[in-house]
Amino acid sequence: MYNFDQVIERRGTDSLKWCTYGDDVLPLWVADMDFRAPEPVIRALHERVEHGVFGYAVPPPALREVIVERLQRLYGWEVSPDHLVFLPGVVTGFNLVCRAIAVPGEGVLVQTPVYPPILRAPADAGLVCEEMELTRQEDGQYEVDFDRFERTITGRTRVFILCNPHNPVGRVFRREELERMAEICLRHHIVICSDEIHCDLVFPGHQHVPIATLSPEVAGHTITLISPSKTFNIPGLKCAVAIVPNADLRRRLKATHADWAHEVNVLGYTAALAAYRDGQPWLEQVLAYLERNLEFLLRYVEEHLPGISMARPEGTYLAWLDCREAGIQGNPARFFLEHARVALSNGAEFGRGGAGFVRLNFGCPHATLVEALERMRAVYQVMKSGDGRL
Ligand SMILES: Cc1ncc(COP(=O)(O)O)c(C=O)c1O
Repeated sequence: MYNFDQVIERRGTDSLKWCTYGDDVLPLWVADMDFRAPEPVIRALHERVEHGVFGYAVPPPALREVIVERLQRLYGWEVSPDHLVFLPGVVTGFNLVCRAIAVPGEGVLVQTPVYPPILRAPADAGLVCEEMELTRQEDGQYEVDFDRFERTITGRTRVFILCNPHNPVGRVFRREELERMAEICLRHHIVICSDEIHCDLVFPGHQHVPIATLSPEVAGHTITLISPSKTFNIPGLKCAVAIVPNADLRRRLKATHADWAHEVNVLGYTAALAAYRDGQPWLEQVLAYLERNLEFLLRYVEEHLPGISMARPEGTYLAWLDCREAGIQGNPARFFLEHARVALSNGAEFGRGGAGFVRLNFGCPHATLVEALERMRAVYQVMKSGDGRL
């Protein structure tokens, strides 16, 4: 049994999450969790460190096998071990895909609001970012408007970066939604780059479907990016995998990889193998813990933060809070940072449809979540009783 209630001091540990703002700030922004990694991962790292030699690494054959077996078991997805291309991160992955598939001036379709590095990747490669806004329903849940999806595609669109489960809106896209997106992409000869980094963090009642499993044709047009980093809370170890069944796409990705990015580090491989092989009990327990945090958060927002609303995320440990009706003057992330000393992600950085929202990471001990929310409630109440200022 893991004790996720344990509050582990992360200040002074060179943590991006904890060391970016002042020591008095509770950080619920960047997507890592405040939990120790699964014990088998920590043990495997100890053993590897004891060896004492840290040269350049190659992917362990056992890691390829564990991933192939996992994809077969979870999704009935038959992947050959040599279809896997190891990369030092999913962000590296979609940036490489942009460079491998398109030439400057061509376009990349993305669905906003979306994880900001996805939004930035096209321009960084000299490509045009074609933003297609997801449709927010009355209940706060997001849907894909397929006419808009198709209208956003231009003659120059070469790549669609799908984010599924979707950060920040928390959707786990249903099979029929994926089928319609895939059908449109294939018709327009668009390569799908599917960021599925959150695929293991899905709540009961929802099922992750890798888009590449829809059909051999879709698989042939898709580069899927996965990683143990979110699943087992080892994002700082930088190990990700591109699954590329199409030989030509794989050749182009590998060539671009060789030109632009480095290999995975030796500890990243060690941790990935131990996590995928022996981390399942940890994963099951963390999912149950996240679900309890989520239930609490949903209730708390409804009861104590009137004017702020959120839909229940279907996956991820990220909540997307709509503060547009809250009466906060200016940017709500700045408001909560300055006055409540709680760091949230600023929705305006997530592209069209993001302004006025904040993203809250509930992958933390319950006590941390409670304290952050209490701080937010206190300043929010003071603000509400005044004129929107503090
Ligand atoms: C959708 C998505 N993709 C990629 C990443 C980061 O991936 P990596 O650290 O492997 O580059 C994140 C982290 O928050 C994410 O939410």
